[in-house]
Amino acid sequence: MDPSVRIFRTPYELAEKFAEEMVQMIKDAADKKVPVSVALSGGSTPELLFSVLGDHFSKSAPWDFVNFFWGDERCVPPVSPESNFGMTFRSLFKKIKIPQRNIHRIYGEHDPSHEAIRYSDLLSRSIPVRDGFPVFDLVLLGLGEDGHTASIFPDRTELFHSDKICEVSLHPVSRQKRITITGRVINNAERVRFLVTGSNKAEVIKRIIGREKSAVNLPASLVVSSVGNLGWLLDSNAGSLLKD
Ligand code: 6PG
Repeated sequence: MDPSVRIFRTPYELAEKFAEEMVQMIKDAADKKVPVSVALSGGSTPELLFSVLGDHFSKSAPWDFVNFFWGDERCVPPVSPESNFGMTFRSLFKKIKIPQRNIHRIYGEHDPSHEAIRYSDLLSRSIPVRDGFPVFDLVLLGLGEDGHTASIFPDRTELFHSDKICEVSLHPVSRQKRITITGRVINNAERVRFLVTGSNKAEVIKRIIGREKSAVNLPASLVVSSVGNLGWLLDSNAGSLLKD
C-alpha cells in the first residue's frame, strides 16, 4: 500500500487521530513561538474533524498560534448553510478561544472576481511565500466523487495550473460560483492532507491512488506536494477498493 495512505476503521477514528496530529503540530509551532497557517476545506469529513476538534480538543491547543484560512469558499453569505466558513464556525470556532484576527474567511458575499484578488493579496501578505506562491503549513482537502478538490472541478483543470493564487470557479452542476486557491498554492504547502470517507468515494480513490490512466488529469490527481508531504486519510469504506 502507498505509504502516504492511511485507512481508519471509521470516520470518527480518522477525525480523532488527525485532530491529535493537528493539535501536536500547533503545539510544536507554539513551542517555537511561530504561528501556523492552515487552509481549511469544506465537505463532510473536514466538518467531522472540526467537530471533534471543537468538542474534544478545545482546551488542548494554543489556538492563538493558528491562522485559519480557506482553500475554497462558496460565493454565498457567511450565514448561508452552504458557507464553508459558517460550517467551521458552528463546528469549531464557537467552541474554542481564538482571536477574531486569526480567522481569515473568504468574503463569499462579495463580488467573486474582486474577492479572488483581495484574498490572493491577503495570502501573499499573511504567510511566507516560496517560488512566488504562499506556503501554508497545512492544506486540508476533501475529494468529490468526480475527482474535484477544493473548488477545482474536472471541467476546469486549467484552474489547477493557473499562475494566480486564487481563481473564481463554477460548480459544474449547481453553477454556484466559488473562490478557490489554485494548484500551485496547494502543492506549495508544507503538508497536504486529503480527508475522505464514505463508500461513494471508493471508486474515485481507487482510480487516483492506483494512478489509473483515466484519473491522471483529475484535479485531485494533480496534487503532489512540492516538498513530498502529501497524505491521504481514508475510512475503511473510502479505501475499500484499494489493494494491500
Ligand atoms: C467544498 C469542498 C469540496 C469538498 C468535496 C467533498 O467546498 O465543498 O472544498 O472540495 O471537500 O466536495 O465533499 P464531501 O466530503 O461532503 O463529499
